[in-house]
Amino acid sequence: MKIAVFSSKAYDQQYFGNDCDSGFTMTFFETRLNAHTAVTAQGFEVVCCFVNDDLSEATIKVLKEVGVKLIALRCAGFNNLDLQAAQQAGITVCRVPAYSPHSVAEHALALLLSLNRNIHRAFNRVRENDYSLNGLLGFDLYKKKVAVIGTGKIGSTFARIMTGLGCEVIACDPVQDSELIKLGVSYVTLEHLWHQADIISLHCPLQQDTFHLVNEQAISQMKPGVALINTGRGALIDTKAVISGLKSGHIGYLGLDVYEEEADLFFEDKSNTLLQDDVFARLLTFPNVLITGHQGFFTKEALTAIAQTTMANIRAFAAGDFAAMQLVGK
Ligand code: NAI
Repeated sequence: MKIAVFSSKAYDQQYFGNDCDSGFTMTFFETRLNAHTAVTAQGFEVVCCFVNDDLSEATIKVLKEVGVKLIALRCAGFNNLDLQAAQQAGITVCRVPAYSPHSVAEHALALLLSLNRNIHRAFNRVRENDYSLNGLLGFDLYKKKVAVIGTGKIGSTFARIMTGLGCEVIACDPVQDSELIKLGVSYVTLEHLWHQADIISLHCPLQQDTFHLVNEQAISQMKPGVALINTGRGALIDTKAVISGLKSGHIGYLGLDVYEEEADLFFEDKSNTLLQDDVFARLLTFPNVLITGHQGFFTKEALTAIAQTTMANIRAFAAGDFAAMQLVGK
C-alpha cells in the first residue's frame, strides 16, 4: 500500500521511518495538501495529513479522482476536514485521537509559567548582561482560579496539573468528568467562568459553536489582568478583539501555541522573508504575549505515539478491519 505523507518534515520521516513495515511504502512530500497539490496523490491509496493541510470539499474531489481511499490524519483535531465531502466521496478518514495529552497540557503550563514570571523577558535580559528586575514582577499561581474550557484528554490533564500546583480549578464542558469533580474541580457556566477566572486555558475543539469563543463580549466580562492561554486551535480566539484587550490592559497575559491564520506561517522557516500578517505582527509587539508555533504536540513521546497509531490505523484499513481503526465520524 502506497502512502503519501503531506506537510512532512525531517522529524516525520524519522519517526515514521521506525514504524513503516513491509508491504507499505511512504513517500514524504513537504508540500501542504490542498486542492492544487492534491493531484500529487495520484497513484497513492493513502494520504497522511497534518493540522494545516486543507481537506476541504475541493481537495477531496481531487483526491477521489486520483484514487485515494484513506485520509490518515496524524493529529487529533479535524477542523480542517470536510467530513461530509469525504463520506460522499467514499474516502475513509482516521485520526490519532490521543497520543500524549501530557505533551500539550505541559506546553500550556510552560506558556503560563513563562508569562507569569516573565521568563521570556528575563532570558533576553541576562544575555544582555542586564540583571535588573524592573518589569519582571510576577504572581504566584498558588490559590489562583484557573478555568479550563474543554476537559477532554488534554484539558483534564491540564486541570490535574493545576490542582497539583494548588490552584482552584473551574471548568466548562458539556460533558463533565467525574474524576475531576472528585479532585475538587467545579463545572460552571461560561459566563461564570469569564467573570471568575484569573487564568483561562482553552482545550475544546474548534467547531461552529466554539469559533471565536473568546470575542469582544467575552473579554469584556473577564477579570482585568486575566491570563489567557490557547493551545487548542487559533480560531477559538478573535485575535483582533484580543489585541484590543491587550492594548487596554484588560488582558494581562497571552500565551498562544496556535493562531487563526497560522497555516501561512507556522512550521516553516520564514526568517528571510517579510512578515505580511499585520495582526500577527502587532501581537509580537506586546511584552506580555508569548507565542510558539504549534509545538504543543512536539515531544518524543507524542511523535512516537502519533507514528504508531497512524500506522496501526493504516494497517487495519489494509486488512479491512474498520473496527480497529480510530475513525473520524463513526
Ligand atoms: P478531546 O476530544 O479529548 O476533548 C475535547 C473536550 O472539549 C471534550 O470533553 C468536549 O466535550 C469539550 N467540548 C466540546 N465542545 C465544547 C464547548 N463548546 N465548550 C467547552 N467544551 C467543549 O480532545 P483533546 O485531545 O483534549 O484535544 C483538545 C483540542 O486540543 C483538539 O481539538 C485540538 O484542537 C487541540 N490540540 C492541540 C495540539 C497542539 O499541538 N497545540 C495538539 C493536539 C490537540
